Amino acid sequence: MPKTQEKARLLETRRVADDTHRIVLYAPRITATARPGQFVMVRIASEGADPLLNRPFSFHRIHKDDGLFEILFRVVGRGTWLLSQRKEGSSLDVIGPLGNAFPMPEAQEEIVALAAGGIGIAPMVELGYRLADWAREKDSRQVFLFYGARTASELVPLGKLERRGIRASFSTDDGSRGSCGTVVDLMDQSVRESGLLPQRLYACGPLAMQAAVAAWAHEKDVRATMSLESVMACGIGACLGCALPAAHPDDSSRARHVHVCKEGPVFDSRKILWEKMEPTPVRPLTFVCS
Ligand SMILES: Cc1cc2nc3c(=O)[nH]c(=O)nc-3n(C[C@H](O)[C@H](O)[C@H](O)COP(=O)(O)OP(=O)(O)OC[C@H]3O[C@@H](n4cnc5c(N)ncnc54)[C@H](O)[C@@H]3O)c2cc1C
Ligand code: FES
Repeated sequence: MPKTQEKARLLETRRVADDTHRIVLYAPRITATARPGQFVMVRIASEGADPLLNRPFSFHRIHKDDGLFEILFRVVGRGTWLLSQRKEGSSLDVIGPLGNAFPMPEAQEEIVALAAGGIGIAPMVELGYRLADWAREKDSRQVFLFYGARTASELVPLGKLERRGIRASFSTDDGSRGSCGTVVDLMDQSVRESGLLPQRLYACGPLAMQAAVAAWAHEKDVRATMSLESVMACGIGACLGCALPAAHPDDSSRARHVHVCKEGPVFDSRKILWEKMEPTPVRPLTFVCS
């Protein structure tokens, strides 16, 4: 897929949850070929060189007809803070679309689920809209969304997505909205109550959550497709800084390194060697709420 560098016009910026902002960018050339799961590299510095490096962000929504895409981001450091301060009408240098996209379900798959933790909801929303359209084509198709955050004020409103027939449920670490516990607890609860085990799971979130979701999926023989993060300097395969350990294609016990920016960010969870990740992801705690 061709990648493009474009000066994107910032049309709208809005705070949507604690430390979380949504921006709308007009960039018709990038939008034209963007697919859910892919990402852009954004040059944040408006003057000078701080921060020096571009920052990666997933496509949160893609509006091809209008030449617009949206980014949903959490403020975690200087780059994202500066981005949150950008004014409507300003321009940003953006390169994209980069990386691979989420595959749509295969012909035999009818029940699918999205699992999102924290800002991992960002790429899942565009995918959720596409899956809602996919589910409408056949009565037997169902889409679940399991969305967890630390507390209710960190959950991003899902707007129209919830009215598209997706069965959404929520968890928070402190029980302030939805179930008290993790996304994995939520998935267990849903399978228990509905009796429906997804045939494919899409996930994005913090590494520990992704590792726990992958372990859950492997145990239940559910195919899991994960969008993984890694610290990126170039985003285009030039710096070799985003490597993660994955199974060798000819010998699954041997590790090789995959570049998240080129071979990902979307991976089949069985290809990732979770135990070789640095730092090693730990299983999230099970929460006990009063
Ligand atoms: C493919 C991809 C897609 C992404 N999509 C989104 C998105 O849609 N929304 C969003 O909010 N964020 C997303 N991120 C993460 C985002 O790029 C980082 O949060 C951002 O670069 C931080 O920049 P900063 O200058 O604010 O923080 P920095 O000052 O660079 O770092 C602040 C802290 O965040 C940590 N950090 C920085 N980058 C990452 C990272 N990639 N993963 C984990 N920890 C990191 C640093 O180690 C440090 O502790 C994505 C990352 C990747 C690789
Ligand atoms: S970020 Fe430079 S090679 Fe992936």
